[in-house]
Amino acid sequence: RSDTRMHFRLVQGPGLSLLSQITAIRGCVSVKSIHKHPFRYQIHHAMSSEAKPKIFITRRVPQKGVDLLKEKFDIFQWNRDDPIPREELLKQVAGKDALFCLLTEKIDDELLEIAGPQLKVVGTMSVGYDHVDIEACKKRNIPVGFTPNVLTDSVAELTVALLLATSRRLVEGVDAVKTGKWGTWGPMWLLGKDLKGSTVGICGFGRIGYAVAERLKPFKIGKLLYSDQVELPYAKDVGAEFASQEQLLKESDFVIACVALTPETKGMFNKDLFKTMKNNAVFVNTSRGGVVNHDDLYDALKSGEIWGAGLDVTVPEPLPTDSPLLSLNNCVVLPHIASATEDTRSDMSELTARNILAAMNGESMPAQVK
Ligand code: GLV
Repeated sequence: RSDTRMHFRLVQGPGLSLLSQITAIRGCVSVKSIHKHPFRYQIHHAMSSEAKPKIFITRRVPQKGVDLLKEKFDIFQWNRDDPIPREELLKQVAGKDALFCLLTEKIDDELLEIAGPQLKVVGTMSVGYDHVDIEACKKRNIPVGFTPNVLTDSVAELTVALLLATSRRLVEGVDAVKTGKWGTWGPMWLLGKDLKGSTVGICGFGRIGYAVAERLKPFKIGKLLYSDQVELPYAKDVGAEFASQEQLLKESDFVIACVALTPETKGMFNKDLFKTMKNNAVFVNTSRGGVVNHDDLYDALKSGEIWGAGLDVTVPEPLPTDSPLLSLNNCVVLPHIASATEDTRSDMSELTARNILAAMNGESMPAQVK
């Protein structure tokens, strides 16, 4: 007991952040009340004197959004960088009037039921909303806000970066430099694929698909194809030709997935689609891991059905370090960072807050899921 108290004083010393104090407390002290409420110290609650509606923010997020929400709301926040455990989330949403969430939280019937009938709005700090049961929200008249546009440029930039990292074998090259495998300049070593003169096929030509196309044009590509549910008039502005999915897969040297995850697109990049692609094709996915069948992708990469793949998104996330995909040199995997720039994440936080505030004021949101 006295040891415990001594340690407690020790970890509260100057120079330790609140979080490390908490971590240290949780790590070192077995105090009954902490065990009874294991996450009590992780929830940040900015107290206010007047009664305001309550909002729960499911992670530490850029401050811009939080500051906007302060005026209107009594803020409760999972004040950490790792996701809130489901059980704790369910506890925290109960009785809240608004929810600011991320793509790591499943917003489903169970959660909405536990939250209670006073919940007026859900705002997700993401452009994808496959983690939100939109029908379940509609049933309860809960509008859902999301963050299109503000991340389009960052995602498109990262898509091009990932494409080039894959096609020019950048990860293998960096690894060779670090591990001493760089013997000398080699005329036959680490040969990649040119964008110049190539056919690029973009599956899903929405905001992000279009922005990727704009950025690839200056690489002097030969032909730009896109597939979508219907022909899109604005595609002409960037010289993209409408193609059936089959034609696009058959002709493209680069196939880029820019489709949203829906019941229709789930697992669409499967054995058959990889078989239809050229053997020299580079496949890039920055949308959602769920649109790809990863076992089929592994087989296609291993057998040479396709040449390489760059993935920013996987199923599951994080991808386990023993995933077969990570054993392949021709597969580059990033940890879902397409929108991860300081400005974009701040803009996403702000837009999420503005969506929530608009809904609370009975106004239409700047960006509402229809
Ligand atoms: C990121 O993947 C997002 O949907 O914003």
